[in-house]
Amino acid sequence: MPPRKIIIDTDPGQDDAVAILLALASPEDIDVLALTCVAGNVPLDLTSKNARIVCELAGRPDLPVYAGCDCPLGRPLVTAEHVHGKTGLDGPDLPDPTMELCKEHAVDYIIDTLRAAPAKTITLCPLGPLTNIATAFQRAPDIVEKVQEIVLMGGGYFEGGNITPTAEFNIYVDPQAADIVFKSGIPIVVMPLDVTHKALVTKPRNDAFRALATPAGIAVAQMTDFFERFDKEKYGSAGAPLHDPCVTAYLINPDLFTGRHINVEIETQSELTMGMTVADWWRVTDRAPNATFMGDIDADGFFALLTDRLARL
Ligand code: RIB
Ligand code: CA
Repeated sequence: MPPRKIIIDTDPGQDDAVAILLALASPEDIDVLALTCVAGNVPLDLTSKNARIVCELAGRPDLPVYAGCDCPLGRPLVTAEHVHGKTGLDGPDLPDPTMELCKEHAVDYIIDTLRAAPAKTITLCPLGPLTNIATAFQRAPDIVEKVQEIVLMGGGYFEGGNITPTAEFNIYVDPQAADIVFKSGIPIVVMPLDVTHKALVTKPRNDAFRALATPAGIAVAQMTDFFERFDKEKYGSAGAPLHDPCVTAYLINPDLFTGRHINVEIETQSELTMGMTVADWWRVTDRAPNATFMGDIDADGFFALLTDRLARL
């Protein structure tokens, strides 16, 4: 089976960084065409800088990195420095990137690449707010049918929200964009907080990253050491939840996850529940299923895969 061609749309973010490293360490499974950056955890100038820092950490200064939308479709930008630190990649002390950003806007790159590719040969992997993806679909509706699949981190049902009582950050930042994506008709796999809150970097798991004794392994240990504060304080978690790497791990070994094909709609009207992923887990409505919403993970298998692959970098 040839590796799956993907575009990673991202707002690095320590967990985005680990997801990107895992993808770049897995060329037999994943062919990363480019990183497209979006404002989210931190503003766009920082997410597009951090994406390049991660590429150079992975030894991939050749990978195209594009900057995209710097604010959501219809709401002011909300960022998460309280979780990720001022730089968005607090923890390790990594050098500024020397590789340049590509000149083209990320949305133009997504449109041009999907138009030029055979149908259903490229998977979109959004790890942040869905602004770039929705903007591309709005500006070029013809590309929607070209997309093979969307595998994204976002939302939550049993877990509720992490930025409001009902909404997960990626969806909350741009609920209008999420609504466009979830109504696109494209096959969607969702990695919600219900799954990612079970992918916790406990001390033994963090020690395993550090024991790799490589720049990437040590950096990941330092990133997750920093990144765990918020969740430990709020949830009493045993470690940092590795949200975005669940997307990459799914592409490598989908059997690590279980979920249901159900209807998922996005709250875009009520400020009280803005950005909520209304997941019909119990199928109590007649709304048509539009997403495979994951509910569980083999966490030990996930961390074994992640640590093995990081050792390659
Ligand atoms: O809610 C977690 C998600 O929001 C992750 O993708 C994290 O990187 C932030 O983007
Ligand atoms: Ca992210």
